[in-house]
Formats: sequence, structure tokens, C-alpha cells
Amino acid sequence: MDVDMQIRISGKTLRNPLMNASGILGDSPDSIRLLSTLGFGCIVTKTLTWEPREGYRPPIIIPLNHGLLNAVGLANPGIKAGRELVAAAKENNMPIAISIGGSNTDDFVRLVEAASEFRPDFIELNLSCPHTPGYGVDAAKTIDTIRDIVKNVASITSIPIWAKLSFSRSLVNEADAALSNGASAIVLINTIPAMLIDPYVMKPVLTHKWGGLSGPAIHPVAVYAVYKVYEELEAEIIGVGGVESWRDAIEFILAGARGIQIGSALIRRGHGIVREIIRGIQEYIVEIGVNKLEDLVGYAHRK
Ligand SMILES: Cc1cc2nc3c(=O)[nH]c(=O)nc-3n(C[C@H](O)[C@H](O)[C@H](O)COP(=O)(O)O)c2cc1C
Repeated sequence: MDVDMQIRISGKTLRNPLMNASGILGDSPDSIRLLSTLGFGCIVTKTLTWEPREGYRPPIIIPLNHGLLNAVGLANPGIKAGRELVAAAKENNMPIAISIGGSNTDDFVRLVEAASEFRPDFIELNLSCPHTPGYGVDAAKTIDTIRDIVKNVASITSIPIWAKLSFSRSLVNEADAALSNGASAIVLINTIPAMLIDPYVMKPVLTHKWGGLSGPAIHPVAVYAVYKVYEELEAEIIGVGGVESWRDAIEFILAGARGIQIGSALIRRGHGIVREIIRGIQEYIVEIGVNKLEDLVGYAHRK
């Protein structure tokens, strides 16, 4: 089907807006190669920290009716592995974002310095992992820390910076702080803090006790987050949370997203879901008679 799915993000044109969400594959060259075959327009690495991390003991991912509960604990091979992850994407001419997770501004700065040497297309700052003490939401506690981190990293690299935030009451202010200090796009949202308690064991089910909720259960929250940030800031946004069908993806585009990340669905529905979503978006574009997908970005805001 000859449908224009191209989308511009941070000054680059992607063949389509779909990407994997950080943490779902993307932690080894082989899994980057696998991701490169699934139909995505860009791929995203697992969040890399300075040193490799083992993460928590199992159980770390629990399937639920409407999503997943996870506390992986940022298990990753460390920033040095970023070089071969980028190289594996480039073998396949795939645009790639390196996701990094620091514990304070200096840590983020050295990670961005290292990541920039590998020449990824984008760098995604994980300012929002909810379950790894010292990282994510802990490292980016306040609007001031978000401002400080983004300002300092953006000043030392020419690679576009994406700031990945969680849902919160101060979301629009946090996004504004990131954008006005050098971020070129905002990624919304990370998982939402959640837990399960086993009534017979009488203890939390995850070894870390609580973790992050993802999948369809959080999709309407993510759509609201994208809609609000677009409404207030007209920013470049990448929507993530519960995309399992073309309808979920289109909702994000209409709310104002230019990119769409798919995480839990790759685990819950299998890898064929990416091509299924692409096909569905193409059929929708033909059905409603627009020339290109990009024309629909933010359409739900039109009077
Ligand atoms: C198993 C698992 C691991 C994750 N690891 C990361 C990570 O390393 N870095 C990150 O920014 N987000 C991570 N996330 C959050 C996802 O990138 C995404 O923001 C969230 O799952 C919502 O999207 P989804 O509903 O499509 O899964 C992880 C999510 C899951 C389920």
C-alpha cells in the first residue's frame, strides 16, 4: 500500500513513527538486529547506566489481565555496550536512540559524553524509572533537577536529546523545563508505580515489593499526558503506554505525538504486532482520505 507514513522528529525523517519502548529488547547486538527486522522506523536501546547492572532477582515481570507489572531494576550491560548496539543498528540502516540512566547531573553528563561518541541518532534520558532507587524519578526529583540535568547534557552534545518523563501533576512544568533547556522532544510516559500482594503468602509478589505498571491499563493516562503537553507546549512528543493496536497508535498521533513506542505489546502479543499496527494505520489513512500521516499530528486539538 502506497501510504506516506514518514514523520519528522528532532530534525530527522523516520520511515514511520513506530519504535520499541526502552527496556523491551535492545540490550544486546543480536536483539538490536532482531528489532531492526520488525518494521520499526527507529529503535531504542535498553537504558544504559555507567556500570553494568544485574537488576533484581525474579520475579521481575508479572503478567496481569490488562498489562504487566515489572521491577527489573535497570539490568543492563553498561554504557560501553552502547558502541556495538549502535553499530548493530547501523548495519541495518536503522535510526537508533540510546537510552541512558544516570543518578545525578554529573553522571548524566558523562553518559551523554560517552553515548555521543557512538553517534546514535538520538539520546533518550531516562528521568522516570519508578523502581530503581537513585535513578529515574529519584535522580530527577524536582523541576530544578530536570532543568539542571537537561541543560548540562544538551550543552555538550549535538545529538538531539529526548527527555522521558512519568505521569505527574507537574508534568507540563517538567516538560517545559526540559524543552526550554535543550531537549528536542519529550517521551511520555514511563510505567506507573504499582504493586501486588499475595493474600496467602501475605507479602508483595515482586522481590522489589513494588514496580511499574505498563500495557493497556495505562494507555488512557498516556494519551492524556500527550494531549496536555501538546496543548500547553506544542512540543515534539513521543507517546508510549499500552499501544496494542492501530487505534491506540492513532490516538497518540491525534493527541499530538510524532513518535509512538511499543513495549509490553511485544511481550504480550508477539513481534508480529508491529507490522499489524503499521497495516492498520495505512488502511485508516486511506479510509479517511488524508495524504500523509504527519497531517494528523495533534488533529484532536483543532477547533
Ligand atoms: C520489562 C520492562 C522493562 C522496562 N525497562 C525500561 C528501561 O530500561 N528504561 C525505560 O525508560 N523504560 C523502561 N520500561 C518502560 C517502557 O519503556 C514504557 O515506558 C512502559 O512500559 C509503557 O509502555 P508499554 O505500555 O507499551 O509497555 C520498561 C518496561 C517494561 C515492561
